[in-house]
Amino acid sequence: TDAPLIDPFQRAVTYLRVSVTDRCDFRCTYCMSENMTFLPKKELLTLEELDTLSSAFVRLGVRKLRITGGEPLVRRGIMTYFESMSRHLATGALEELTLTTNGSQLHRFAQPLADIGVRRVNISLDTLDEEKFAAITRWGRLPQVLRGIDAAQEAGLRVKINAVALKGFNEQELFPMVEWCAERDIDLTFIEVMPMGDLGNEDRLDQYWSLKDLRGRLADRYTLTDLAERSGGPARYVRLEETRQKIGFITPLTHNFCESCNRVRLTCTGELYMCLGQEDRADLRAPMRSAPGDEDALEAAIRAAIRLKPKGHDFDYSRQTVDGQMPRHMSHTGG
Ligand code: GTP
Ligand code: 5AD
Ligand code: SF4
Repeated sequence: TDAPLIDPFQRAVTYLRVSVTDRCDFRCTYCMSENMTFLPKKELLTLEELDTLSSAFVRLGVRKLRITGGEPLVRRGIMTYFESMSRHLATGALEELTLTTNGSQLHRFAQPLADIGVRRVNISLDTLDEEKFAAITRWGRLPQVLRGIDAAQEAGLRVKINAVALKGFNEQELFPMVEWCAERDIDLTFIEVMPMGDLGNEDRLDQYWSLKDLRGRLADRYTLTDLAERSGGPARYVRLEETRQKIGFITPLTHNFCESCNRVRLTCTGELYMCLGQEDRADLRAPMRSAPGDEDALEAAIRAAIRLKPKGHDFDYSRQTVDGQMPRHMSHTGG
């Protein structure tokens, strides 16, 4: 069998995030600028190529695939790709096939996704206030997302909500969101805002709300128990004893998870990014296209890429004025 993917710091790469499109039907202010230029369609990997690349990673020991975007469910024909990936669930090669979505299309896709073996979805939702939702997503409509969440739960999918913590924006909604999720048995994770994409005029520093503060406010009202459990991901979890609910915290600016990082990211153009916060990457599209059907050549290209994986990310708000912003939008690598 194939040797697993091990990076230079002895970390096994078992989790692949696949961005299937850079497009999105929303324009969240912290993620995109209002006038985004998207890639011409011909630059995108075809669904077959996404399959070829993803399947190569599965052969090399990837156990978890998370499909992202942009918004993955706006990619035309995306269910063909999901269906195709579900064959790796059937063989047991893959433990989990999942996605991160803004929820706008979930009312249509929840049942088909559940049918092919998806068990849970992560949904980005920063506010339960209709007007605020419209303001932060620019183009989104809250009722449609709520309908999608209902559809997901009706289809038996486990739902996790990711909320970006934004000072002056959703601070007042901390308890309402916690309670809303508790009532529906939905997991909730808060994320510190990351300095990605055009920061524009909106000063991202002004929006920065530390999760330390957020956690402190939770602790004023609830009894928090730290949970040892780690998903191999950046989240730390606590249980609220009063509601028995699990709450996650993702503090991307700390390095607390880099040492156990298990993931790499494939973009919709076939570039493999080694870290969310670093530019280290390798093109896999050219090797794939130059030797169609040559699994060994593709696997060699992937192994070579993994050797570039850095020790950790390099986010640093204090550097912004020196280095400028991160050149890449979150929507390019799907978070
Ligand atoms: P779970 O399977 O539920 O643990 O998912 P996840 O947290 O890995 O994925 P999700 O798509 O829900 O990501 C939540 C947030 O974590 C997003 O904002 C991501 O950008 C961020 N995130 C995911 N992976 C990394 C990482 O390797 N480094 C950093 N800094 N942030 C990450
Ligand atoms: N900082 C933090 N989280 C972000 N996301 C998108 N842009 C940013 C940012 N600048 C989040 C989305 C979603 C996840 C995939 O990434 O809200 O939950
Ligand atoms: Fe779309 Fe997600 Fe970016 Fe919002 S954060 S614009 S929903 S990709």
